[in-house]
Amino acid sequence: MICESFLCSRRWRAVRIAVVFVGLAVACFVLSNSISRSHMLSQVFNINSGFGEGIDQIQLEIGLEKASMKDNKTVILTTLNEAWAKPHSIFDLFLESFRIGNNTQRLLNHLLVICLDDKAYHHCLTLHPHCYNLRTKLDFSSEAYFKALDYLEMMWRRLEVLAVVLDKGFNFVFTDTDVMWLRDPFPHFFPDADFQIACDVFSGNSYDVKNKPNGGFTYVKSDNRTIPFYKFWYYSRKWYPSDYHDQDVFNKIKYNKFIKKIGLQLRFLDTAYFGGFCEPSRDFNLVCTMHANCCVGQQNKAHDLQILLEDWRRFMSLDSTMLSNSSWSVPQDCR
Ligand SMILES: *[C@@H]1O[C@H](CO)[C@@H](O)[C@H](O)[C@H]1NC(C)=O
Ligand SMILES: *[C@@H]1O[C@H](CO)[C@@H](O)[C@H](O)[C@H]1NC(C)=O
Ligand SMILES: *[C@@H]1O[C@H](CO)[C@@H](O)[C@H](O)[C@H]1NC(C)=O
Ligand SMILES: *[C@@H]1O[C@H](CO)[C@@H](O)[C@H](O)[C@H]1NC(C)=O
Repeated sequence: MICESFLCSRRWRAVRIAVVFVGLAVACFVLSNSISRSHMLSQVFNINSGFGEGIDQIQLEIGLEKASMKDNKTVILTTLNEAWAKPHSIFDLFLESFRIGNNTQRLLNHLLVICLDDKAYHHCLTLHPHCYNLRTKLDFSSEAYFKALDYLEMMWRRLEVLAVVLDKGFNFVFTDTDVMWLRDPFPHFFPDADFQIACDVFSGNSYDVKNKPNGGFTYVKSDNRTIPFYKFWYYSRKWYPSDYHDQDVFNKIKYNKFIKKIGLQLRFLDTAYFGGFCEPSRDFNLVCTMHANCCVGQQNKAHDLQILLEDWRRFMSLDSTMLSNSSWSVPQDCR
């Protein structure tokens, strides 16, 4: 039917104008989105983007130089705040695990503790030779409750520091302080992967991106894939809900085509070697690390980790004919 009346043609014009406006709005939205995405990509690849400006990079570099293994610029990193640094706390158990682990004591020479506040820093200095004081605007010293704002900011701050460490050419093993080191992990890393991460639950396939990773233990080599990847991860925060932490965002971006594009070699570590309370390393002859994951509350973690270290001590004191049937008496309070 043809529209001929004056009224009708005016209505048509209004519709056409409206369509043009909507079209323009959509185009603007798409364009601005792709501009900010391409802006992000330029930040990811640009060495002079001002990334990590809020970090005292000179002190960090001095700490890295001192603590790293000289042959291969590899360092072990952890973060510490006041709440976790109190005497008889998880940090003490963490250091203790290196001393009673098999051949792990020497690795303490390569552990740099990134302290998130002055109290943690001063406590660290009384126990350990390599402590770095990360000055931050926020106060991270109160107990870090899961998903509370300070905890969230602390996680993102940590990711930023790790990106800067890679940028400076250092490879690292990042470990939470509630990971007990019982054996040298280096022989059990994949030699051909850039980025390796422990799992709460391991599917049996180290390539399977559907594995449930846990950012509390990672081994990352500094190269032209991991450096842009860490920055991409950090900047990706703004595409997701504001209460997401680094691990939530990782679980989204692990499927992103950016990873394929840059050729990042991503692998998931077997819980047989890198276990935790979610899925323990059952064989005492294989276990390298045990993480107090699947556990809420410092008290509960400290309680169970203490028992875990006792189990380990008992295992180490057994003679070799009896080594085959040890088992963990934890989790108890961590359930
Ligand atoms: C780096 O060197 C140390 C010894 O200096 C060695 O124990 C460690 O396994 C090496 N790491 C890698 C990834 O080669
Ligand atoms: C400890 O390490 C040494 C040398 O690496 C090895 O011979 C020994 O079997 C290990 N002990 C246990 C209990 O794993
Ligand atoms: C990394 O460097 C290698 C060799 O220099 C090069 O072939 C590759 O394209 C680079 N990858 C990226 C993402 O820049
Ligand atoms: C392990 O086996 C030995 C000998 O079979 C036995 O004496 C010991 O009680 C067992 N230990 C545990 C914890 O089951």
